[in-house]
Amino acid sequence: MILDIISKKANKYELTKEELETIFMGYLNDEVKDYQMSAFLMAICINDMSDSEVFALTDIFIKSGDILDLSFIDKIKVDKHSTGGVGDKTTLIVAPLVASLNVPVIKMSGRGLGYTGGTIDKLESIPGFRVSLTEEEIKKQAQDIGIVITSQTKDLAPLDKKVYALRDVTATTNSIPLIASSIMSKKIAGGADKIVIDIKVGCGALIKTKEEAERLSSLLIKIGTYYQEEVRTVISNMDRPLGHNIGNKLEVLEALEVLKGNVKGELLDLSVELASKMVSMGKGINESDARKEVLESLENGKALNKFLEFVKYQHGNIDDLEIDAKVYNIKANKSGTLKNINALSIAKLSESLGAGRKSKDDDIDYNAGVVIKKDIGDEIKEGDLLASLYTNIDNPKFNLDGIFEIS
Ligand code: URA
Repeated sequence: MILDIISKKANKYELTKEELETIFMGYLNDEVKDYQMSAFLMAICINDMSDSEVFALTDIFIKSGDILDLSFIDKIKVDKHSTGGVGDKTTLIVAPLVASLNVPVIKMSGRGLGYTGGTIDKLESIPGFRVSLTEEEIKKQAQDIGIVITSQTKDLAPLDKKVYALRDVTATTNSIPLIASSIMSKKIAGGADKIVIDIKVGCGALIKTKEEAERLSSLLIKIGTYYQEEVRTVISNMDRPLGHNIGNKLEVLEALEVLKGNVKGELLDLSVELASKMVSMGKGINESDARKEVLESLENGKALNKFLEFVKYQHGNIDDLEIDAKVYNIKANKSGTLKNINALSIAKLSESLGAGRKSKDDDIDYNAGVVIKKDIGDEIKEGDLLASLYTNIDNPKFNLDGIFEIS
């Protein structure tokens, strides 16, 4: 039976929901082996899935675990998801910004693995910050201040978790239908009413081309329609890192600067765009009116105050964010215009400094990371400071190849 299902997909036939259930639930229950699921996932990567197969798979993922019930909040709950990027700290900015406008944000976030960071690691770099909350605590905090960011309390979409771990080691991560069902199953099981998804595209992202990003966007929206959940997407660049700081505590510091109004540029612009979509969906107003409210909340300090209130409520001490690491300054070895900063190479550098995990049980150094000192388009003179590297590794060796393109 399992072999018939694998052959059917390998021969480009559409599978029924029952067939998908047989193989995927069989995998969750250890009846289907890793090598069988690997072959099946590769057949999906090569031969794609129809929309009805994707809807069925999303359903199977959702029903494999718990479903969070956020109905105790009587307002529309809007969630935000990023497909993963380098220096992407938008959640730290967008969540308090949206909550400051009375749209509740109750978010389950994850840890980082490999080159992409996780919001939970970033928050945990704030001394004292509690990332594991009980359901009772989540409920009380949501009612008291309208914003909660916590690590997953329930077992949401455990089948996706198991399949994702296998995809990670079988070169099957970049299948659009698998990505779409993976993301949507977790968001729906997480209790969101409406969802904004930031699709990263570029060398530092899972999705490498604009065409793939557009296909993913349309599939995410279709899955949303199937579940009667409104989904809006943003496609954003990940050829270069987002903002100047990469590394957990460094990213919290940069997010704080954005909320204080001290940082302009791509990070601020993307945060405003995501927040405007969320506020528009949460309040049922158009995006340009929502944008006015978002900009006002940044200007009058409400967003910053909501962030400080949120950190304090989860026991974090924001006044204690000193970077405790040795600093190594990287200088330009030639003059010219800074044409690009390679996101993937910066992410690898940051991981080598101790800021990322190679496998999921590795420890990370919250203080480690990179601060980029120049912007794309800047005129550079030989000897100018390009970046400061922070690490606690003794005698570190840096691979700076291909990071700064100056010509
Ligand atoms: N993010 C997810 O949650 N799943 C994927 O498959 C890719 C990005």
